[in-house]
Amino acid sequence: MIRREEIKSILEALLPQLLEEDSAVIGTNLVVLRQRLDHLKDVFPAHTSHSIAIKTNPHPKMLETLVSWGFGLEAASIEEVRMALAAGCDPSLIVFDSPVKTRAEIREISGLNGILVNVNALEELDRYDADFHGILGIRVNPQVHTGAPELFDVSKNESKFGVPVDYRDAIISAALAHPVQALHMHSGSQMKDLNIQKGALKELRRIADAINEEVPGKIKVLDIGGGLPTEPLSDQTKMEAYGAIVAEVFRDTSYSLVTEFGQWVHAEAGFALSHIEYVLEPNKVFIHLGADFFMRDAYTKPRSFPLSVWTEDSDEVLGENVSMDIAGPLCFAGDYLAHGVELPIALKEGDFLFVDCTGANTYALWSRHCSRTVPATWAWDGNSVVKWSNRSTIGF
Ligand SMILES: Cc1ncc(COP(=O)(O)O)c(C=O)c1O
Repeated sequence: MIRREEIKSILEALLPQLLEEDSAVIGTNLVVLRQRLDHLKDVFPAHTSHSIAIKTNPHPKMLETLVSWGFGLEAASIEEVRMALAAGCDPSLIVFDSPVKTRAEIREISGLNGILVNVNALEELDRYDADFHGILGIRVNPQVHTGAPELFDVSKNESKFGVPVDYRDAIISAALAHPVQALHMHSGSQMKDLNIQKGALKELRRIADAINEEVPGKIKVLDIGGGLPTEPLSDQTKMEAYGAIVAEVFRDTSYSLVTEFGQWVHAEAGFALSHIEYVLEPNKVFIHLGADFFMRDAYTKPRSFPLSVWTEDSDEVLGENVSMDIAGPLCFAGDYLAHGVELPIALKEGDFLFVDCTGANTYALWSRHCSRTVPATWAWDGNSVVKWSNRSTIGF
């Protein structure tokens, strides 16, 4: 989480712009983003390449930034493949994971040298012909429960994602019969139990080893997906523990490893800022970001974002707290960022609510409900802010 002094510095740089032109802002903290990506690189084995999930934060400047720092991109649709290319990503660092790739899409990506394309079903394999210049992978459903919340658990038996690991023999035969060089597994988002995930990784390795026993060197790449919940950086992160598990499971192998993290990378590197428009008795505050920006939170389980209130002179509003509900601007009864949060009794119209850790699955899920436009986006580099994009309209 960003320190209070850093929030103050961000506001000192941002508020003069915001006061002039807008009611809310979406921000990226490049300092935090860089620290997290460095940590990711540090804790995984050296032969791992990290393709960051585009769907978590697809802003074109974000993608350009990740690419300029040497990271790859994971695309969940053909549109995201095009965005990755537009951001300058080398095809060999792009992973294409859509579960419903059309024949036209496969033709479109066939000429991209080294792109990793994971088929979602064995039936998809027949759609690739000799023109395909990428690396073909099979997505395996590990059929484990890692503690991911129901909505984000992609590893259940009836999941639509990947070939169930129970069909081990069919996976091996298909890999041997087609130009398959990779296996892929993503167990779900917000995995809690890394020991269960360790078992799933071991099984992935066993299948790869079995294929390579038949044809040595056939499986070259193992893509182990993303799926860790966000956490603050500390001396002992869950990511470090996961990196150690990965190193142990794949020690003494020559597989190239690929990851596809999304929210662990992005969540803490984002923030949002809104004018407080109304403070209504007895306990309701209205702001300019709601279920449009916090779409997943409004419709599923709200995350508890760190909140603070600031004046237009960039001073934090402190003092006695009172329990408040924070309502968004949409004409929809569920449009609340939070219920019953402690906020300073002194807050008033014209102050600002700073919402921290909003970098994942917020801007990316912007909802057109009530046709509100998307606020301008800005990036903080530790010294100053730079505008990434103007307020924009979602096309209809
Ligand atoms: C195939 C795949 N890879 C990676 C991710 C990123 O997951 P996370 O944000 O939990 O790291 C997702 C998320 O939906 C996914 O479906």
